[in-house]
Amino acid sequence: MADEMNATKSPVAKQATSVVRYHEFLKNYTDDAGTLTAEQKCAKLYDNWTTYEQDVANASYNGASLSTAMLSELCPDKNISILDCGAGSGLVGEKLRAEGFTNLTGNDISQTLLDIAEKKNIYKKLVCCDGGNVAKLPFEENEFDALICTGCVSPTAIRPKAFVDWTRVVKPGGVFLLLARHRYWQTDLTNKWPKLGFIDEFDTVIQDLENSKKVEMIFKRVVPDYVEGTEGLAFAFRVL
Ligand SMILES: C[S@@+](CC[C@H](N)C(=O)[O-])C[C@H]1O[C@@H](n2cnc3c(N)ncnc32)[C@H](O)[C@@H]1O
Repeated sequence: MADEMNATKSPVAKQATSVVRYHEFLKNYTDDAGTLTAEQKCAKLYDNWTTYEQDVANASYNGASLSTAMLSELCPDKNISILDCGAGSGLVGEKLRAEGFTNLTGNDISQTLLDIAEKKNIYKKLVCCDGGNVAKLPFEENEFDALICTGCVSPTAIRPKAFVDWTRVVKPGGVFLLLARHRYWQTDLTNKWPKLGFIDEFDTVIQDLENSKKVEMIFKRVVPDYVEGTEGLAFAFRVL
């Protein structure tokens, strides 16, 4: 989670756990050796990350509260049905519940993190599935009023191609909101690991969705202090 580029500079020893873990993951991820698919690699990372909540707290992760505040701004009705895509251990669900949203469904590729979320009793339904490269999520057409995806859209986890199916499960007039590290849309990551090209795919998917009148952008917003004091980038779209 934490900024792997600053791994050795962090003055706080506790932060190193998440920094080192994620850095190792990226190194292994870009190494061709091994037979795991991209999704299996991600599931393995998070399934073995039993200190996830402690580590992200130590990394000053504010993604859950930032995305929840933006969704609240977009959706004043607290009764809407929301899919928390990449729900993980339920940090976003906790914030949504505290804001008054109660109709929550979550999906994630890591059963270990979903087990933590389950114990919090905030989601009506939690589904373990790949939400990254799937043609179809295991949800009905128009099942949700809103979809929130926090900290998961990335070159290694939920790729932009997944947005196409988001427009199927979110009903017309509904919204989807994503928030992730700003640096994924900057060039330093792809310069270091060219295989993690992400920006072109993002632009192509969004352009196709806009051109085919499936979505319109509500906002694109840089948010400070997303994790370890670094910026996040949020996009909100209305499904047409
Ligand atoms: C950084 S965590 C964020 C979790 C949660 N949204 C939060 O804010 O704490 C990224 C999450 O994405 C999930 N993930 C990664 N790849 C995925 C995929 N292909 N499909 C579904 N979930 C995925 C991971 O298991 C992990 O829970």
